[in-house]
Amino acid sequence: MAVSIKSAREIELMRDAGKMLAEVHAKLGEALAPGMSTLDIDTLGEKLIRDMGCTPNFLHYNGYPASICVSVNEEVVHGIPRKDRILQEGDIVSLDAGLIYKGYHSDAARTHGIGKISQEAQELIDRTKQSFFEGISMARQGNHLFDISAAIDRYISQFGYGIVRDLVGHGIGTKLHEDPQIPNFAQRRRGLKLRAGMTLAIEPMINLGRPDVIWLDDNWTVVSDDGLISAHYENTILITEGEPEILTLL
Ligand code: MF3
Ligand code: CO
Repeated sequence: MAVSIKSAREIELMRDAGKMLAEVHAKLGEALAPGMSTLDIDTLGEKLIRDMGCTPNFLHYNGYPASICVSVNEEVVHGIPRKDRILQEGDIVSLDAGLIYKGYHSDAARTHGIGKISQEAQELIDRTKQSFFEGISMARQGNHLFDISAAIDRYISQFGYGIVRDLVGHGIGTKLHEDPQIPNFAQRRRGLKLRAGMTLAIEPMINLGRPDVIWLDDNWTVVSDDGLISAHYENTILITEGEPEILTLL
């Protein structure tokens, strides 16, 4: 497994790509409202990305037909935007977006509530986000990759949620998916040693119920097997000699 170490120049470009994606997410979050279709979100997201002079990296990736993955309620990830899928008060919606700037990729996901949502749903969203921060607290030069996985697992386990095991985080750079894979649950080994200059997408996907997921017949949409809601939170980060840097936050 070859994990690339980015040069100072590459890191600058990834910072730019990350900042722009953070802005896309901020604008999408503001636009969300009951009555919008999931296709409306994709249309807006693609326009925001292109208006910044960037390219949506999900569009046509392995045949994926849209720029933004929009996953509602029991949909875990990779929901395909549709004109007839209308957001309603009480839904939770995960937006996963990415872009390419001067050859460098960024990737990030947020889960939002539509209008008033249940306390149970809000807690799932908040704890999924917090699990990312638990993970990144271990993302330091000298620590090992699966220290991140273990920290996410340790934090989430106390709530009895299901950590999705069939999908993982990943390295990122000149490609959307680079080595290494980053599971969100504890591993038997500590994994490779983290080094300054590695850029990683850490992305816990957490189910309210059981961890099992299935793929719908569209071959993309991943849903919880028990039909309960799921949340997703992701940032592209940089390992440094000190504190890790989150590239996809404003
Ligand atoms: N953020 C997703 C990931 O990390 C990318 C979506 S896959 C795509 O794997 F095909 F929809 F692009
Ligand atoms: Co990702």
